Amino acid sequence: MGKLEGKVALITGAARGFGAEAARVFAKEGAAVVLGDIIDEAGAAVVQEIQAAGERARYFHLDVSQEDDWRRVVDESVKVFGKLDILVNNAGIVPSISSIEERTVEEWDRVMAINARSVFLGTKHVIPQMRRVGGGSIVNISSLAALGQSQIMEAAYAASKAAVRTFTKVTAGQHAKDGIRCNSIHPGPIDTDMLRAACADPEAVARRLSRIPLGRLGQIREIVAGVLYLASDDASYTTGAELVIDGGALVQ
Ligand SMILES: NC(=O)c1ccc[n+]([C@@H]2O[C@H](COP(=O)([O-])OP(=O)(O)OC[C@H]3O[C@@H](n4cnc5c(N)ncnc54)[C@H](O)[C@@H]3O)[C@@H](O)[C@H]2O)c1
Repeated sequence: MGKLEGKVALITGAARGFGAEAARVFAKEGAAVVLGDIIDEAGAAVVQEIQAAGERARYFHLDVSQEDDWRRVVDESVKVFGKLDILVNNAGIVPSISSIEERTVEEWDRVMAINARSVFLGTKHVIPQMRRVGGGSIVNISSLAALGQSQIMEAAYAASKAAVRTFTKVTAGQHAKDGIRCNSIHPGPIDTDMLRAACADPEAVARRLSRIPLGRLGQIREIVAGVLYLASDDASYTTGAELVIDGGALVQ
């Protein structure tokens, strides 16, 4: 029996990267999976792949910064699969590198809306559904940037991910009574499209790796293993925790 048999999971930013792989793994583990993203063609392709393997999945357009999108997608998910047990707040963006002095208010607000407001909105709209079925698990993808190596982190991104870290703990504290667990994951540099775009220059990658004791980029599956653990009943006594998957970066 799969680790998520009988569960329904909603994953944001699920068209590629961590989100797409989490959707594939969750479906294999027995969950019905709702994938939300703004790149609809890529999201639909992941769903087709999951359905072709005989597993259950649906794609919905979901801009995580927009409350109306959340209302619609939560409603549709419950209509299609009957309930929601798991939410993975994964969608996020990395802004172009800029100093604090040069960062514009519009850019700052956009990063905050997609990386942090999104987690508030998703949590807000999913809590009533989880309470209705006696509980659930929320997994928020934060970052190493929320915890350390501040000298090399981009300020807007780091601040947005720190907001996710603290919001996770408040959610865990306030909704344990509803049977809802909420935890954050803090990946170091992982080999995805996002990282390749942010570190296109091989020297930038080498500089990044010099600060990683394990001496390599992480792989998507190494993050998804953590997401699966926290989403599943294996983590039934874990809430408000931060799971750091960073190749040892914080040791330095
Ligand atoms: N890759 C890394 O090294 C790394 C490290 C730490 C944290 N993270 C975090 O992990 C998460 C996933 O990262 P990834 O590397 O898989 O990135 P990715 O860019 O490959 O995937 C992110 C997904 O989010 C989607 N997205 C962007 N804006 C959206 C919006 N407004 N609404 C809905 N979806 C939207 C994108 O279309 C994309 O499919 C992000 O939150 C990121 O900040 C990544």
